This record gives sequence, C-alpha cells and structure tokens, in this order.
Amino acid sequence: MSNAENRQDRLPYVDAVRRLAASKPLQAMVPGHGGDPDRGGRHLADIYGEAVVRMDAPLMLEGIDLGDDSPMVEALELAAEAWGARRAWWLTNGASQGNRTAAFAVRGLGERVLMQRSSHSSFSDGVLLAGLIPAFVSPNVDHVHGIAHGLTPQMLEDALRTEIEAGRAVQSIYVVSPSYFGSTADVAGLAAVAHAHDAALIVDNAWAAHYGFHPELPESPARLGADLVISSTHKLAGSLTQSAMLLLGDTEFAERLEPLVARAYTMTSSTSASSILMGSLDAARHALVHGTETIGASIRRAEEFRERLRADERFSVISDEFDEFPDIIATDPLHVPIDVSRLGQSGHWVRDRASAEHGVYFEMSTATSIVAILGALASPDLDRLMAVLTAVADEADELRAAGKASDQSGFPQLPDAGTLRMLPRSAFFAESVLVTAHQAIGQVSADTLAAYPPGIPNLVPGEEITEETVSFLQAVAASPTGYVRGAADPMVATFRVVRDPISAAQAG
Ligand SMILES: Cc1ncc(COP(=O)(O)O)c(C=O)c1O
Repeated sequence: MSNAENRQDRLPYVDAVRRLAASKPLQAMVPGHGGDPDRGGRHLADIYGEAVVRMDAPLMLEGIDLGDDSPMVEALELAAEAWGARRAWWLTNGASQGNRTAAFAVRGLGERVLMQRSSHSSFSDGVLLAGLIPAFVSPNVDHVHGIAHGLTPQMLEDALRTEIEAGRAVQSIYVVSPSYFGSTADVAGLAAVAHAHDAALIVDNAWAAHYGFHPELPESPARLGADLVISSTHKLAGSLTQSAMLLLGDTEFAERLEPLVARAYTMTSSTSASSILMGSLDAARHALVHGTETIGASIRRAEEFRERLRADERFSVISDEFDEFPDIIATDPLHVPIDVSRLGQSGHWVRDRASAEHGVYFEMSTATSIVAILGALASPDLDRLMAVLTAVADEADELRAAGKASDQSGFPQLPDAGTLRMLPRSAFFAESVLVTAHQAIGQVSADTLAAYPPGIPNLVPGEEITEETVSFLQAVAASPTGYVRGAADPMVATFRVVRDPISAAQAG
C-alpha cells in the first residue's frame, strides 16, 4: 500500500472529536447542551443518540482545529488529495455557500463573469452580493423535457468572443456539470478555452462529488483543469445534509485565487460550523476513497434499474438519448432520469403518488419526467422501487381508461433571458414597487425568480421582464408541485420591479 493510501486510511478530524467526547469533558462553554447527554443533552440524545450530543463540539479547540497542524488541517489536506485539488474548504451551508464564496473570490480577479444561464440561484445571489457584472451563455436544452444540459467548449469560445468583441472581456466563467439529469460536460475542454482567454473556470459540480472515485465514473473536475469546484458532498457522496466542499484546482490561477477564496470563505462561513457536519465530510472522504467496491455496486444497481425500466414500455430512460446533445460527453450512471410521459399524467403526479401512497421519494419531477438519484455508497431496494413505479403506472392506466389522461405537451419551454438593463446589485438595492404581471412586462426586475424544479434563475435583478418569462413562471406556479422561488406571491401574479431604472442605474 502506498503512503498516500495509508494516509487516506486516517480519519483525523473524526478521531479528534471522538477523543474529546471520550474524555467526558465538563463543557462550561457553548453549545448549551454541554455535550453531555445526562446533563443538558437528554432531549437530543433521546432523538438522535448520545454520540451526536457528545460529538457536537464547538470550534477553536486545541487538538481539533486550532493551529496549522491540527487534525482539521490534516483532514482538509486529505480531502484535497482525494479530489485532486490543491486545497479544500469544508462548507456547512451546502454547495450554496460554495457558490457564493466562489463569486466573492473571483471578484478579486476582475468584475466580469460569464455564467451558464442554468446556474444555481446561489451563484446568481453571489454575483449580486459581490457586485459582479454577469454575461450569460445559454446551455443546450432538451426541448422535449424542458431540461437544461451544458456547454460545449465551442459554445463557450463563441460566447467569450462575443464578449471580447463588445469590449467586455471576462475574468471568470461559471459552468454547471453535471446537470440534475446527470449530463456531464467536457470540463477539460472548457478549462482549456477559459484559460486561453485568461479567465478562471468555476465548475459547479454540486451533483457529482463522487466523480473520480471509481474507474467507471467521470474524473473529478479538479483533476481536469477546473480552477474552483463546488462539490455538494451531501448530495450523492455520503456526507450529512448541508455539508459540502469548495475545491481549488492546482492550476495557473491557484496562487491568485487561494488568498481570495480564503478571505471569501471567512465572509460566508459560520463562526460555529458544526463538527457533526464537518466530521461527516471527513467520513465521506474516507468512505469514497475506500469505496471502489461499494460504488461499483451502486453503479451496477443503477444499470439494472435502467434495464428494468426499459423492459416496461410505459417508461423510457432519458439518458439513453443523450447522444443527441454535443455538450454531453458522459452521463452519471447514478442519476436515472425517467420519461413518464406515456402514462398520460405529469411527472409531478407520478412523483406525488409514489411518495404519498407508497413512501417512495424521487429527487425531482418535471412535466414529463422524474429523476431517481442513487447515492454512490447506497444500495436502494430495486424491487420496491420497480414495484411502486409499476403500481403508479397501473393507476395511470386506469385513469386513462376512464378518460382522465392529461396532455403534458403544452408545458412552456424555458424562456430566453431578458436584456440586462442594470447591474444586478444596483437593481436589487434600488427603490422598487410591486406591479401586476401585465404591468411588469418591459420593466426591470428587482428580484431573482427561479422556477423549481430545477431552480434555474429565470429572472435576475436588473433584467427586463418579458412576456415569455411571465407566462413560463405562471405556468410553473400553477403546476401541481412546481413553485417559483423569490416570487412576490405564490401564483406569480405580481412582480417587484425597479421604480425608476434610469436614476437607479446612475445612482448604482
Ligand atoms: C447545480 C447546483 N449547485 C448548487 C446547489 C446548492 O446545493 P446545496 O443544496 O448543497 O446548497 C444545487 C442544489 O440543488 C444545485 O443544483
């Protein structure tokens, strides 16, 4: 066994917290439950077990996280090594914190960012907070299912050239790979294009923290030339919900970015980050590094799941058609996107029936699809999954026989972005007013509005509100399980617009 493998056997942070817990300290400090299940933590221990109370340690403790050679520093180095990064930061407020931190950090390289339109709203929030000037590049879209994929290096090159020719060269670029549906872009190619234009590449890899941990999975983006990688470890890679990582690639930008990220991280992180969440990141790293067999078993299950779906003509596997999209160079086997449109009911209905009637929960749904996510270290009961999908499909058949099928093809396509008329930050802080949807058309949005699923911002502050965007958002809001984050009211009947965009832009 090599030294690197030996090192990866260690669980430095988890062990340090365990040692503290085992010493049964008297904690006259926060957290107020005292770390003692018998004196202050019983209400928690009864629910979550004694270990949670004992291991819920505060920050700044000798032997855990204080100093340059603390167990926490070692654990972070192991994480960086495992993902092929130069440095790793643990996040206790999700990949959302990673996106905001990345936006703050790249502002130090310059004020312009080119971002994939299907960004997560946490990145556009970061753009706003950092005062970045965004330009957008639209990803390929599957118009049948209304879902966004990614960018080819050529699409990025073309978008960069447009910005350069307009005298707006960008210093950073943000792309998402993989998508919710597992479609994976050519990160190495995108990094080469970005670097040829002297721009840093941020890859939002929230959906694939497990990449690079099995020969049948795509490589970790940090090993493919990405400068910053946002990794939602809790999503598929086995850490606890809300724990995530920000990784710095070992690239030509690393030296400039490292201090910028460190400062930005201080601005976005809690001064009481949870040792339970951070310990789960140490544990997930350890499990992934040693998990080739388990991850392989998850991949086999996902393949078997796909086979079983293909055998029922009422379903089809959306990723089987991914070859049509030039941006998709690989598919995450653990994202299983299922076309349910032949059932005559919406994906929302299918997802709802599966959870309400059978206790089986799918990650998301669209009008025509549902997406199943299998954890990299998990082994779901495929028989139960298939039995429930079959039962829901049978119920749909009965509805259709009774003439109660509904046509999902009228669902609107994702709207194009309106013109950016003001800086997002200026529009957000400008005096604003609520107007009806009809009156809002042609005015400047003061808010970020993102339709869920999948949470792509359809409007950012400073953008002109178009008729197309209004009808799209209202259609999503009216659908059974859709909702619009950031809307002034649930049905998106009103919009918050900038009262006087011309004077606000001058002031901003
Ligand atoms: C592409 C993308 N980035 C970032 C996030 C935010 O992740 P988290 O929920 O860990 O904050 C999400 C959440 O779904 C996402 O889809």
